[in-house]
Amino acid sequence: MSSALSLPVPCGLRSEVRSDPVTAPMRTLTAPVAALVIVSVLVGGCTGSQDIPARGQGDVRETIRLSQAERETFRRGMRQYLASVQGIVEALAHSNRAQISESAQKAGMDMLRGVSVSVAVHLPPEFLMLSMDTHQKFDALSRSAEAGDSKAETTAHLGAILANCTACHAKYRLSPN
Ligand code: HEC
Repeated sequence: MSSALSLPVPCGLRSEVRSDPVTAPMRTLTAPVAALVIVSVLVGGCTGSQDIPARGQGDVRETIRLSQAERETFRRGMRQYLASVQGIVEALAHSNRAQISESAQKAGMDMLRGVSVSVAVHLPPEFLMLSMDTHQKFDALSRSAEAGDSKAETTAHLGAILANCTACHAKYRLSPN
């Protein structure tokens, strides 16, 4: 497909799905979700690339079915992602590590608190994997800024996060239940 744009899909996510003392309150959700994720990686493997259809080719994204309340919560989470990216970029410009760390942490695993397992099990495993990996990458960026890592390292973390945003948006869209 010559008019399609090929994007890298983040691979090797499995190693990042792990229990972490910082996210202890999340254990009820993360244990079953992590199991799903591992199954999905074992079964599905990693495709390596993804195609975004060019304009006019129709919307071929997979639909994620959520109730209205769940969609609202999900979209709020997305807007937090974007706000965190903005906070990180602004803080980077001022070399403000404390603000980088704080902005990133707001989009970390803590955001999943309150998401019920019954919602999670109905979602495609790859979608869950990307979601959890993105939260974990924000936590990793937060820790890295706190530890005094360089701007280049922070930017690399941010690049990996944005690759997840793009990959997921290329593949999924929301749909009413
Ligand atoms: C696990 C999948 C996934 C990841 C990762 C992801 N998104 Fe999304 N995002 C979605 C889906 C699905 C929608 C709804 C798109 C639709 O229905 O057309 C969405 C919608 C949004 C919206 C619109 C929110 C609204 O109010 O309607 C914003 C903003 C957004 N995402 C930002 C981001 C940013 C920034 C990142 C990365 C830091 C990100 N997303 C990562 C799946 C994801």
